[in-house]
Amino acid sequence: MWRPDSWQTRPLQQFPPYPDLPALQKATQELQRLPPLVTEAEIDNLQRQLADAAAGKRFLLQGGDCAESFADCNTDSITAKLKILLKMSLVLVHGLQKPIIRVGRIAGQYAKPRSDEFESRDEQVLPSYRGDLINGAEFDAGSRTPDPKRLLTGYGLASLTLNYIRALTESGFGDLSAAEHWDLSFVADSPRADEYRQVVSDVRRAIALMQTVAPAPAQRTEFFTCHEALHLHYESALTRPGRDHRWYNLSTHLPWIGMRTADLAGAHVEYMRGISNPVALKVGPKLPLDTLRRLCQALNPERLPGRLTLIHRYGADQIESLLPAAIQAIRADGMPVLWCADPMHGNTRTTTNGIKTRRFDDILRELESSFAIHHDCHSVLGGVHFEMTAEPVTECLGGASGLEEQDLERAYKSLVDPRLNGEQALEMALSIVRVSERLC
Ligand code: PEP
Ligand code: CO
Repeated sequence: MWRPDSWQTRPLQQFPPYPDLPALQKATQELQRLPPLVTEAEIDNLQRQLADAAAGKRFLLQGGDCAESFADCNTDSITAKLKILLKMSLVLVHGLQKPIIRVGRIAGQYAKPRSDEFESRDEQVLPSYRGDLINGAEFDAGSRTPDPKRLLTGYGLASLTLNYIRALTESGFGDLSAAEHWDLSFVADSPRADEYRQVVSDVRRAIALMQTVAPAPAQRTEFFTCHEALHLHYESALTRPGRDHRWYNLSTHLPWIGMRTADLAGAHVEYMRGISNPVALKVGPKLPLDTLRRLCQALNPERLPGRLTLIHRYGADQIESLLPAAIQAIRADGMPVLWCADPMHGNTRTTTNGIKTRRFDDILRELESSFAIHHDCHSVLGGVHFEMTAEPVTECLGGASGLEEQDLERAYKSLVDPRLNGEQALEMALSIVRVSERLC
């Protein structure tokens, strides 16, 4: 029988090497006593909207840091993250002519799966950084030792982040209509500038309209959160009973299972199958089709619309050979899913200097293939998933400003994976509009 802790009987991947397990137990018990971050009603509302997106009536925009850091829980950073997502959604709403569901990788995206247990620098070998919820990024033995107190710090900072997001979205983001926030002139440098022109002019017209009707009454902006449900002690401590004997993970609206923990017999799938949140599953090139089908069956046995989002992240070179068969298989099973494209995680590469990066053109190529393949298969691509930030970081190559390898070290800040910067993210939103108009 499922319980919030029934996962404890299953093999647990990615469990941090805590030296003090009683301290982990104590932190978990403390978390269990603390209030939830989100509500059942918000979660049910999101699930209905995701069902709409699967039917092509809405579009999901999911994005944010790869690894959110505790230090980023501050006014400027939260405001900037919210604004870039709202700007992208404004581009999309006008371009796609449908409501956008905004879901931030925020207020809890603090735990990271790692392919390598250890990291070595020069002669020293230390445990890998696993996200601020678990250990510190600094390369010294003290900070790399997993510390259960971080679960409580993470909970606290997630709740402060969400509190501020709620304050901002409740009072309306009226100032987004101000023209100075909308400098799209950088796209003129792009080789695709001609194609962007129409979209940019439509967005400009929409903003001008917003200004004309100003001062608009402050409107509530709907915003949801998501994170990878990796640290099951944290997730299950914040799992609470709801109506009709149901259980909800009240730490976030939309938890997902990452590629490294998508194990049918494992703890993460056991935990996720029992909660009533909508859940997402990352689908990578190594996941056999048959396993994918069984995972869908385990996660959505009642075949509820909106319950399951499949986030494919095959990589630009593999998507064409893998996605069509996945679409056919899921359809043949009569399994309702929302398809969402993550064009980031299959396109990570390392430069000759050893820096992890992604090329804008590879990301765009996977995105374009995603739209085209769903279109050709008479399927619906109902969302996109990006690692991005509003800051002018130099982590991904290319884009309108043509970042090159020698630029990467200038402003590389991500603690794990390279993100699109603010301009590259907006350009991606313009491209989504461009691509989907071409397919219509
Ligand atoms: C991520 O979204 O940061 C991530 C690790 O993704 P994936 O599980 O798809 O590799
Ligand atoms: Co990532």
